[in-house]
Amino acid sequence: MHCEVAAADWHTLDADWLIVCVPQDNEFSSRLAAFDRTLGGTLSRLKEAGDLTGKPADLVALHDVPQIAAKRLLLVGVGTPEKLTRAALMKAVQTAARKVSEKQTSRIAVAIDQSSNASLGSSEAISTAVTALAVGCVGQGLYQKETKRFAFDKVSVLIAPTEDMRPAGEAVRRGQVLGEAMNLTRELVNRPACDVYPESVAETAQRVAGETGLACEVLDPQQIEAERMGSLLAVAQGSDRPPRVVVLRYEGAGRGKSTLALVGKGVTFDSGGLSLKPTEGMKDMKCDMAGAATVLGAMAAIARLGLPVNVVGYMGLVENMISGRSYKLGDVLHARNGVTIEVLNTDAEGRLVLADVLSYAVDHGCNHMVDLATLTGACVVALGEDVTGAFTNDQAWCDAVLGAAKTVGEDVWQLPMLDGFAEQLKSDVADCKNVGTRWGGAITAAKFLEKFVGETPWVHLDIAGPSFASSGNASREGGATGCMVRTLVELAERYGAARE
Ligand code: BES
Ligand code: MN
Ligand code: ZN
Repeated sequence: MHCEVAAADWHTLDADWLIVCVPQDNEFSSRLAAFDRTLGGTLSRLKEAGDLTGKPADLVALHDVPQIAAKRLLLVGVGTPEKLTRAALMKAVQTAARKVSEKQTSRIAVAIDQSSNASLGSSEAISTAVTALAVGCVGQGLYQKETKRFAFDKVSVLIAPTEDMRPAGEAVRRGQVLGEAMNLTRELVNRPACDVYPESVAETAQRVAGETGLACEVLDPQQIEAERMGSLLAVAQGSDRPPRVVVLRYEGAGRGKSTLALVGKGVTFDSGGLSLKPTEGMKDMKCDMAGAATVLGAMAAIARLGLPVNVVGYMGLVENMISGRSYKLGDVLHARNGVTIEVLNTDAEGRLVLADVLSYAVDHGCNHMVDLATLTGACVVALGEDVTGAFTNDQAWCDAVLGAAKTVGEDVWQLPMLDGFAEQLKSDVADCKNVGTRWGGAITAAKFLEKFVGETPWVHLDIAGPSFASSGNASREGGATGCMVRTLVELAERYGAARE
């Protein structure tokens, strides 16, 4: 997708669709009013008839508008200007993009008319709209002969001829980089486990690293063994697909500056192991590497944007399968940091993978850490399908993560790290066991991870709900969502700025 800024009058730009954002306001802004005059009062008449409400994500499509150069016009409501948020704009423009991308279209023009009382800055609005267009025109029908969604070739963002091109151009690029990063994450998650396994994800990471200028190191089973990652290796041993640990390095702040570590759970398929999942619980488990895919997407965006920050991404890649070599209930594992773990449920595998990768990240030097994992169904029960759970050992660091999420408009909710939950992990035969009781399982999992991060300020993000949508709707495609990519990039940017 090629994106550009066009300083032109809305009616002059040639495109397959002209998308115009319409606020929910008593009066049209001056530009909208001028556009209405060009159209001979069509907008006023639509508004009068109650067909053009400007309500969030409300669409009006006009297919034959002789006064404009574009073939078709799509009016998309964005709600009250004073209440406009990135989340609301993202949803509205993504809804428009989904409508428009149902048929082959090559060229899209978009006009976001920001009134002076808008709560969102012009640059934020532009980059959000571009991200929404990039994400909205890409579907999950990767394996279909007849595609149901057509990605845009070219997007032109219309700005007023008097407006400064430079900041608008930067906003467009930022929006595009973020959108493409989300699509990278989405594609990796959406591709099935027959094509996405530890080795193939590592190869993808190497390719992306080459394209974006990241340093990439891949640990093979011998190196993982040498690192004594007994916990991760136990999960991997039941599969014919050998594990990988990927390390992606980005040094934008220069040597010696604080380092942020991003750690992702990359279980390329979670059958549950010998604690086998039933069909219903297993059918979407290609999504269980979403944490790792999110780390890759965020690292790619951070590098492409050239952010002045040091970030290291870690991906723990395994497949959780059954075979004669599977790890078993009652097995005692030796984690990399010396902790012994009694396995009482082989389906609580994500924490076993993360345990070793977290301790590896700590030992390789990081000042702050965030991990992302499709870790527990319990988190989905607690917070629903659209909200990420946050857990921490350091409230100030968690506030920084929550703040970044709030700014970009992603829903994250913190759950308590009460000591009672750690009690449940006590074992009679080892230092700990890998599961507690049925209740509060998202917290028990987080308390387990806490044993492997030492003193490092750390936030665990459980994305089991929001990373993968079981079905789609008007505003978003089903399947992988690319959630938390924007939050991580925002966090990295702030992290670099605060430690300059
Ligand atoms: N990958 C699953 C968690 C999951 C569930 C992700 C639903 C996405 C959607 C994880 O490995 C798992 O199986 N967790 C168990 C933990 C239990 C055995 C303590 C769960 O949630 O049931
Ligand atoms: Mn599992
Ligand atoms: Zn899992």
